Amino acid sequence: MSDKCKTYYLTTPIYYVNDVPHIGHAYTTIIADTIARYARLKGIDTFFLTGTDEHGQKIEEAARKRGKSPKEYADEISSKFKALWDEFEISYDKFIRTTDSEHIKGVQKAFMQMYEKGDIYKDYYEGHYCVSCESFVAPSQLVNDELCPDCGRPTRIIKEESYFFRLSKYQDRILSWLKEKKPILPEARANEVIRFVEEGLKDLSITRTSFEWGIKLPKELNDPKHVVYVWLDALFNYLTALGYGSDDETLLKKYWPAKLHIVGKDILKFHAVYWPAFLMSINYELPKIIAAHGWWTRDGEKMSKSKGNVINPKEVADAYGLENFRYFMLREVPFGADGDFSEKALIDRINNDLGNDLGNLLNRIIGMAYKYFDGKISSQKVEKYYSKELNEAKEIIGKIEQTYLWKMQIHKYLEELWKILSIGNKAIDTYKPWEMMKNNQEEKAMALLGLIANLLAMVAIYLHSVMPKTTSKIANTLGFEINTEKFNEINENKLLNDFVIKKIPPLFPKIEKPLMKKAEIKEPVDLITIDEFFKAELKVGEIVAAEEIKKSKKLLRVEVDLGEGRVRQIIAGIKEYYTPDELVGTQVCVVSNLKPAKLMGYVSEGMLLGAKDENGFSLIRPEKKKKLGTKIK
Ligand code: ME8
Ligand code: MG
Repeated sequence: MSDKCKTYYLTTPIYYVNDVPHIGHAYTTIIADTIARYARLKGIDTFFLTGTDEHGQKIEEAARKRGKSPKEYADEISSKFKALWDEFEISYDKFIRTTDSEHIKGVQKAFMQMYEKGDIYKDYYEGHYCVSCESFVAPSQLVNDELCPDCGRPTRIIKEESYFFRLSKYQDRILSWLKEKKPILPEARANEVIRFVEEGLKDLSITRTSFEWGIKLPKELNDPKHVVYVWLDALFNYLTALGYGSDDETLLKKYWPAKLHIVGKDILKFHAVYWPAFLMSINYELPKIIAAHGWWTRDGEKMSKSKGNVINPKEVADAYGLENFRYFMLREVPFGADGDFSEKALIDRINNDLGNDLGNLLNRIIGMAYKYFDGKISSQKVEKYYSKELNEAKEIIGKIEQTYLWKMQIHKYLEELWKILSIGNKAIDTYKPWEMMKNNQEEKAMALLGLIANLLAMVAIYLHSVMPKTTSKIANTLGFEINTEKFNEINENKLLNDFVIKKIPPLFPKIEKPLMKKAEIKEPVDLITIDEFFKAELKVGEIVAAEEIKKSKKLLRVEVDLGEGRVRQIIAGIKEYYTPDELVGTQVCVVSNLKPAKLMGYVSEGMLLGAKDENGFSLIRPEKKKKLGTKIK
C-alpha cells in the first residue's frame, strides 16, 4: 500500500452459520483486526467488514437436522460469531448478514445488472455437486469418481434448470489482471489460480431450484423457483455492506475498491476468479489485494467435529490471555503456510518471546531506572553514545511496514520487531550499566537507559495493532500514550524525549504447565445404544454376478441374492482388490436397509462390509456358509 492511500477498506470472509466459530475463523479475523488497527493508528480512514453467510443448501440442512427454520438457526449461530468477535474486541465497523434486507436488495440489483448486460442466460445444469463446499465439481476432479477433492465428502448428482453467468467471457481479462496487477498474496499462491484460469473457465451456474433457502431472483425475471447461488450472494456482501443497491452510496464512493480481502486458501478461487468477473460485469473496480492464509491443524491433525479436536478460541483466550493468543497465531505461522496449534508451542511463545525478550527488557529498565535515576530517564545523550544500536533499530522500523506488514508477512514483521528487543537486551549485557554507575559514568548509563526506553517505545507502538492493551500498559509504564501522533514521530525517526517510569507487576508471568482443560472424550456423541445399532439391518448374501464399471477406477457392479426372491444391485468400491470372477459364488455381509443411492449412474441398493488397512482390503464373510438372508447380530 502506498502512503498516499486515504481510505482503507478490508474484509474477512463471511462465515457460514452451519458451524460455531473455531480458531480458523478467529485466525482470519485476528489478522484482519491487526491490519485494521494498524491502518487506523497510521491515521488512515479505515472500514473493516466481517459477518456471516447464511443462505444455501448446507445451512438449510443443518437447520432441518436441529428441527429449526433456517432463519432461526442462522440467527442463533450468527449471534455466536458476533458475540465472540465482541468479546475479542474485534474492531469491525460493520457486521453484515446475508439475510439483511439491504444485502438481499443489492444482490438482486447486481443480478439484474448482469442479466441486462447479457452476461446471464438460462440453460440446464447436470453435474456433481458438493453441498458442503456449495460448489460443482468437474468430473475430472472427482476423487474415486464421487468424492469432492476439497473436502473429501461424497458429491451428489444434480440436474436442474439454471441461470448461467458468462464467466468464460472474462477469462482473458481476469488472466491479464492476475498477471499484471499481481493481486494475490502470498505471490506463490498466484500460480495455482493462474493455471486454473488458463485451463479454461466454464460458464458458472448461478441459480438453484433444488432447495429454497436463498435469495429470490429479481422480480422482473418472474422465475420464482430459482434462488441465487450462495457464492454469488455471498461475494456481493463486500459491496452491499457499503450500500450498493441502496439509496445511499456514500460509503461505497468513499471506500470501494477494497484494499484487502483476507481469505483462507480454501476460498481463494472464488475471490480471485469469480468475484473479479462479477465486478467486471457490473463495471466496478477490482479489489487491490486478495490475501490467502493457510490452514490450522491441531497437534498435527485436521480439526473436525467428529474427532472432537476442534479448538474453541475462547477457551484458549481464557486460559492464556487474548493478546498472547493473538501474538502466537500471528507469529507462529508464516502467512500462507499451514499451522499447527499445540499448547506447548503457545506456552513456548509466551515464556520465550513475550516473557524473556519483551517482559524482561521492560523489567530491567524499570529496575534500573529506579535504582539509578529515581524513575526518570532522559533521551538526550542516546545518539552520542549509542548511535550504532539506534540506527540498527531505525533501519528495522524503516522497512517493516512496506516490506512485511502490507505484504501480509506478519510473522516476519514480528520477527523483525523482536530484533529490536534483542538489540536492547544485548546492549545491557555488553555495556553493563551497573559498572558504569560504579565508574562514575552516569551520563553514559543514563543514555543507555534512554536507548532502551526508546527501543521499547518503538516496539510498543509497532506491536500495538497485535497486542493493543498490553502495549498500552507498556507505554503507560514508560510514561507516554500510543496514538497517531506518537506513531508518526517514531516513524519519522524522532526519539521520545523523557520518560517517567511507573512500576508494574510482570506482564507475562511464566507459565509452568498447560492451562487448558484437556479435551474430554465426548462419549454421548460417539457411543450408540443397541437399538441404534440394530437400526442397521445386516444380512448374509451371495454374489451371483459381478462386472467392472468401465468408466470407473474403483467401482464394481455386483448382484447379490439376499434370499428375497430377487437380486439386488450393489455398486462397491472394490475393483482394485477383487476381480469379478473371484467374487461370483462367494458369500458376503450386506447392509440391507440403506437408502438406495446412485453412483456413476447406477442405483446401489446396499453396501458390502469390508475392512481395509495398509495391506489392502478384505471383504467380511461368514466363517461357515449361511442361509441367504440370515440376519447378522
Ligand atoms: O467459506 N484454518 O465460510 P466458512 C484456518 N461462507 N482458517 C480457517 C479454518 C482452519 N482450519 N477453518 C476455517 C465460507 N477457516 C464462505 C465464505 S466469503 C464471501 C464466503 C477460515 O465458514 C478461513 O478464512 O467455511 C476460511 O476461508 C474461512 O474460515 C471459511 O469459512
Ligand atoms: Mg468452509
